[in-house]
Amino acid sequence: MLKYNNLSQRLLDADYAVRGRIVTRAQELEKEGKKITYCNIGNPHAFKQKPMTYVREVLSLLEYPQLLDKNISSLFHDDSIKRARYILEQIPEGIGAYSASAGVSFVRKAVAEFITKRDNIVANPDKIILTDGASKAAQTVIHAIIKNSNDGIMLPIPQYPMYSASLTMAGGLSIGYYLDEENNWQLNEDILTASYNTAKLNKLNPVAITVINPGNPTGAVLSYENIQMIISFARKHGMAILADEVYQENIYTDNAKFYSFAKVMDDMQISDVTLFSFHSMSKGYFGECGHRSGYLEIRNMTDDVFAQFVKFQSINLCANVVGQIATYLMVSPPQIGDDSYELYLKERNIIINDLREKSVIIGNELNNIEGISVNIPEGAMYAFVKFELPNVAKDNSFNPKTDEKYCIKLLEETGICVVPGSGFGQMPNTLHFRTTFLPPREQIIELVAKLKDFHHKYICQDF
Ligand SMILES: Cc1ncc(COP(=O)(O)O)c(C=O)c1O
Repeated sequence: MLKYNNLSQRLLDADYAVRGRIVTRAQELEKEGKKITYCNIGNPHAFKQKPMTYVREVLSLLEYPQLLDKNISSLFHDDSIKRARYILEQIPEGIGAYSASAGVSFVRKAVAEFITKRDNIVANPDKIILTDGASKAAQTVIHAIIKNSNDGIMLPIPQYPMYSASLTMAGGLSIGYYLDEENNWQLNEDILTASYNTAKLNKLNPVAITVINPGNPTGAVLSYENIQMIISFARKHGMAILADEVYQENIYTDNAKFYSFAKVMDDMQISDVTLFSFHSMSKGYFGECGHRSGYLEIRNMTDDVFAQFVKFQSINLCANVVGQIATYLMVSPPQIGDDSYELYLKERNIIINDLREKSVIIGNELNNIEGISVNIPEGAMYAFVKFELPNVAKDNSFNPKTDEKYCIKLLEETGICVVPGSGFGQMPNTLHFRTTFLPPREQIIELVAKLKDFHHKYICQDF
């Protein structure tokens, strides 16, 4: 039998807290009959968020095209039927065949049109690769740009741990930079510079910087000026940018607006910084995590280099074709005049408004608990919650597992499954956990009440 010690050290070293120890414990408790509220992962359909009807109508017709020969007008919207026919004209072989490595060409074109419409900039379909979700896109980039074990990528702290885990798998180094919690988790140039200089002093080679906007786990949305600063910083140091923009539709306050890195870079007329942007159908109002659907757009790269990224994709043949079509549907939703337009709008607004309300509820309610504070999430699906344990601070026994112990106890006492801050990284001597605000509103209110009670008991060790 293959032994643990014979596994790749890189695999053993890779850490992905979102599905780590806490979740294993939650599953054990669930088997024993305990009711668990899984707030550890941004998986909207798992919280009964409904799929967008037009997406599922078109996909159903593509999965079973024989339906198109039947009288189905009472079951499917007209535009869904038309779209399914159009898609089958584009890919007469259907969705069961491999596609070109970079993806189906009409979908790549539609993605480029989506970017142009969103940002009012030119986008080149030939520099777009359709991927099995944003994770695969990011992993492709990380594997392609890490040349040796001195190469590293600057990652936010806190970060979404797919980045550090993938970097470990690729044999590169995470070069952390702290996000500024006091300044609503924006990036700070002095902190970036200090992190870069320390890496250089240690003979590391930072080849790129990753930015997640809107943020996971922070829920923060970066300002236009902040993005300008990041682009200039990357340019100054000859680094590429990995812009994770999967939460671009998840913005909840009028004070915040999504600006893509592509747009800001275009405004700055910068053409010598390579930009990798990721988008996904797992988030937004779609929440189609299971379809593994997304894209990678690359800017400022010569064709010979881009060809290597396509070669990388070709080693996996292509992204799953249902996912590619799902991406097509994400970037080209029903338009005014379409039979399903009203329904699309209604479903979209219900989902986004519900998330907006819950972001405020969770933010305000948590801030009302003594010893707990949080920046009210402006975007994404998470709150990164700071908590204090006076007895821990007093006896100075702070250690990285303190937050994990707290989260395990929270799980065992209340059934609430959140992820300890150490899984994302946090400032030394601070404690956090990340929770989603995806559960239904009543459950969120109940969850905060339970948390309040638990936190008090935990401090008093009153169990
Ligand atoms: C910041 C960020 N990027 C990427 C992903 C993964 O996206 P996908 O499902 O498209 O792989 C997630 C999932 O939670 C995420 O939070």
